[in-house]
Amino acid sequence: MIPDTPHLTQPLHPQGGRRGVGVLISGRGSNMAALVAAAREPGFPADIRIVVSNRPEASGLELARAAGVPAVAVDHRAFKGDRPAHEAEIDAVLREADIEIVCLAGYMRLLTPRLIDVWSGRMLNIHPSLLPVFPGLHTHERALAAGAKVHGCTVHLVTQAMDEGPILAQVAVPVLAEDTPDTLAARVLEQEHVIYPEALRQFVIKQN
Ligand code: GRF
Repeated sequence: MIPDTPHLTQPLHPQGGRRGVGVLISGRGSNMAALVAAAREPGFPADIRIVVSNRPEASGLELARAAGVPAVAVDHRAFKGDRPAHEAEIDAVLREADIEIVCLAGYMRLLTPRLIDVWSGRMLNIHPSLLPVFPGLHTHERALAAGAKVHGCTVHLVTQAMDEGPILAQVAVPVLAEDTPDTLAARVLEQEHVIYPEALRQFVIKQN
């Protein structure tokens, strides 16, 4: 069971402090890398303090370590289906790193209501579509199949309903006649790397 987190029921750090951010990944971690790079820019109001993957083989873990960010795997398979126990371990790792904000960046596990509740209002996600259209998986294939003329990406707050939280930032990209899911995904991903750091920056500034 994830305990209540007293530091999360209090206001965030006073003006001027850099907010501690933890990033949850499951794979290559290109959005995580974009957040890390942005947070290194002078004046960025947040600091990426820990990267956690549910998959030890995620290449994003090495990417984070190469960038000098502590990165740990909390393998969900070791918990044999006990999702609350797995998340309690992730939560403990985040707290140990003195985190105030969680960014999901290609984290491919459904979260329990408890974890979402504990980090309510402080957990962001990036999704590769213009929400509320195309929540869930395979968004690029679905956009092409639907004949969408624009597609894009969304940064939103995480709430109990998947891919439905308040939208913090969006960017649209054109869908081209010759697009394949891969070419469209690449065009969207380029924009993800721009809006996620910017949305985090704006989010933190608003909290101050
Ligand atoms: C991104 O397209 C993100 O929008 C989605 O999962 C993908 C993760 O890619 N949630 P990466 O691991 O950040 O490269």
